[in-house]
Amino acid sequence: MRFPLLAAALMACAGLAASAGAFAQTQGAPIIIKFSHVVTPDTPKGQAALRFKALAEQMSNGRVKVEVYPNSQLYRDREELEALQLGAVQMLAPSLAKFSPLGVKEFEAFDLPYIFPSKQALYAVTEGRIGRGLLRKLEAKGITGLAYWDNGFKIMSANKPLLAPSDFRGLRMRIQSSRVLDEQMRVLGAQPLSLAFSETAPALREGVVQGTENTPSNMYTQRMHETQKHLTLSNHGYLGYAVIVNKKFWDGLPAGTRRILERAMAEATAYEKTIAQRTNDAALESIRRAGTTTIHTLSPQQQAEWRKAMAPVYARMEERIGKDVVGAIQREVARP
Ligand code: LMR
Repeated sequence: MRFPLLAAALMACAGLAASAGAFAQTQGAPIIIKFSHVVTPDTPKGQAALRFKALAEQMSNGRVKVEVYPNSQLYRDREELEALQLGAVQMLAPSLAKFSPLGVKEFEAFDLPYIFPSKQALYAVTEGRIGRGLLRKLEAKGITGLAYWDNGFKIMSANKPLLAPSDFRGLRMRIQSSRVLDEQMRVLGAQPLSLAFSETAPALREGVVQGTENTPSNMYTQRMHETQKHLTLSNHGYLGYAVIVNKKFWDGLPAGTRRILERAMAEATAYEKTIAQRTNDAALESIRRAGTTTIHTLSPQQQAEWRKAMAPVYARMEERIGKDVVGAIQREVARP
């Protein structure tokens, strides 16, 4: 679907959903939360969405029903944000790389190469003042941010070995819709192409792009390894999510229900953190066992070359992201 057809259809749904919600609340019918996402149910996000569903339904004694729609079943990346704002779905967990179409470019700080030296440093940002401040920026867009969910550090893949920065020259690489990721590929000499997640595995199969970056769990569950002959364990960037809800829907819930859902979200988030790394490690092992793909590790010297090659992204992008945000993250992650 395309605008304005999409908008018209969504607005019709939103109107229906809003009146259905009000009707449900007065009639004692369950409150429905449609939770749409683009990955498979066995990824970290997919599993956490199901855990949230189970917890929310159990803690609310069935007053809340969470319908999880995985795998871009309802909407692709860009469309799902529009659908959330219009109220056609109530909950999403888009990757932090996908918020700039909403006009909140600050989240692209999470895409800066090598910005997080460890998961601990990342959590210090997402669970602290900086993370909360970023979520608050969504309020003006009619969105409430509830939590950060984890996936992991990204690896690079292509149909040729990627060992030196010069190996990227001329390759068409799929990226998420982030200008920082676009710039990252350009400084490597590659041609970035922003594609929806659901379009990525087909584009790799058909040769529209020759490579990509993602976490092992996203690569394995989309069977990208079957067409990508080489993987490099570069861990050069981070992929995580913000769990978001339509603000009008959220504010309109009875206060008690909202508290229950906040507790369910806190538990699902804690669970998500325990499974993310494990799921990615298992996915990498499955790719290894599939035997389709050569897995490369970088020597310390090669790693230093990658860092050096990607360093110009900071100077080129900090104006766009906001120098204050980039600086605050850098100071936070440098703390002992
Ligand atoms: C991607 O588009 O590669 C990811 O954002 C997909 C996801 O939701 O993990």
